[in-house]
Amino acid sequence: MSEQAETAPTTQEEQKTEAPTEEKDVKENGTGEAEPVAEQEKEAPKEMRAVVLNGFGGLKSVKILKKPEPALNEGEVLIRVKACGLNFQDLMVRQGAIDSPPKCPFILGFECAGEIEQVAEGVEGFAVGDQVVALPEFRAWAELVAVPAKYVFKLPKDISHLDAAAITMNYAVAYILLFEVAGLSKGKSILVHSVGGGVGQAVVQLAKTVPDVTIFGICSKGKHEALKSANSPIDHLLERGSDYVSEIRKVSPDGIDIVLDCLCGEECNKGYSLLKPMGKYILYGSSNVVTGETKSFFSAARSWWQVDKISPLKLFDENRTISGFNLRRLLFQQGGHEFVHKAVQEVFALFQQKKIKPLVDSTWALEDVAEAMQKMHDRKNVGKLILDPSLEPKPKPATPAKGKNKEDKKKQSSEEKKDSEEKKEEEKKEEKKEEQLTNGDSAGDSDSKGKENSS
Ligand SMILES: NC(=O)c1ccc[n+]([C@@H]2O[C@H](COP(=O)([O-])OP(=O)(O)OC[C@H]3O[C@@H](n4cnc5c(N)ncnc54)[C@H](OP(=O)(O)O)[C@@H]3O)[C@@H](O)[C@H]2O)c1
Repeated sequence: MSEQAETAPTTQEEQKTEAPTEEKDVKENGTGEAEPVAEQEKEAPKEMRAVVLNGFGGLKSVKILKKPEPALNEGEVLIRVKACGLNFQDLMVRQGAIDSPPKCPFILGFECAGEIEQVAEGVEGFAVGDQVVALPEFRAWAELVAVPAKYVFKLPKDISHLDAAAITMNYAVAYILLFEVAGLSKGKSILVHSVGGGVGQAVVQLAKTVPDVTIFGICSKGKHEALKSANSPIDHLLERGSDYVSEIRKVSPDGIDIVLDCLCGEECNKGYSLLKPMGKYILYGSSNVVTGETKSFFSAARSWWQVDKISPLKLFDENRTISGFNLRRLLFQQGGHEFVHKAVQEVFALFQQKKIKPLVDSTWALEDVAEAMQKMHDRKNVGKLILDPSLEPKPKPATPAKGKNKEDKKKQSSEEKKDSEEKKEEEKKEEKKEEQLTNGDSAGDSDSKGKENSS
């Protein structure tokens, strides 16, 4: 990715909102008639830095470019962005692994906090100078963003931009999962996948606001120490890839009350099998579809195929509930912004009462977004990743002069070789699994699979 912002062509959508248009490039001549503004008086369109996705795929498709500053449409506010949240969904968007993605190029990002610079007609309750956080559908990772006011939340005085970008999406999702969908109450047990990540940590903190809740958390082994040092109140920390169903049964033979699944695929069946009578399984993500740097149709198909079909009659007999939650659909397709507003207000109140505190993994310059995305891909983030447009990019290592540092080069190339061998090994494993799937080895009973899967 280039370090310097480049100037790029704009999408049709962006051109729509660009100012000035030809019609606007006129001024009154005293007689009430409009006359063209002299060429030299015309202001060049102002530009801003933005993280643009040029095409679905790997990290190379992500560029920092100069784009025209957005102009406001009715009902929108213009936000000067101070901090942005990086979410797992952004990796899936980059790969094109989400439903109805926009056409490339477009500005990435679903979460940003900053200050309002302009308010368009038809907006009530916001003024220039307000400190806010916003959840726009894309375009959040830029110096300026125009957002419909219904997706904007005013910040209480004691919430910084960084805290706002770290809590809004993750804690609102966690709040809705626990208190709206699962109906968490005293004494319940919860299973949380990816417990070391943004949503995972939000779930843990919010769940612990309820007395006697027991949390079983699963994540990569490499995060266990960091989570213990951060005093994350997870009661039973389990390793990703382990036989967690048996491990949980040893501690809790009756199973679990609430299973929160953001992985999908075979985890759906395992999660469902762990439910106690009156237990609730909630699907809210499909991280398992992300395997390599680019989208894999096989892993998406496998993830879908592996999920057992469950009839309502089975749920009736077993006294179990299956639910789903998808913030993007709720906000942008199902008109759920008021519902989300209430959840965000509850989260802000809990933050002010010091009952929750986001765990931030690291903060990055816009120019270093590819590195931040890579960290998430490599499962190395403990907590939230933040982008800060005011940060200077990290200095890049100087390219060693020809003939110099032979030892370093040798070492680097042997490390690269090792990395690529490990990657090849992973890919081979994936291919083997895919082959098995195609041959039906791991598909199980095909009668029990199908589109009607509720989980
Ligand atoms: N339904 C909704 O509205 C909604 C909203 C926000 C987020 N989500 C979902 O919640 C989950 C967590 O989101 P987040 O933004 O907080 O991210 P996050 O947990 O910080 O994401 C990174 C972590 O995900 C885990 N992971 C699982 N599968 C992975 C894979 N295939 N490749 C790389 N990492 C993988 C890794 O941790 P371990 O290796 O430790 O597991 C990684 O460190 C995601 O599934 C996301 O889609 C859903």
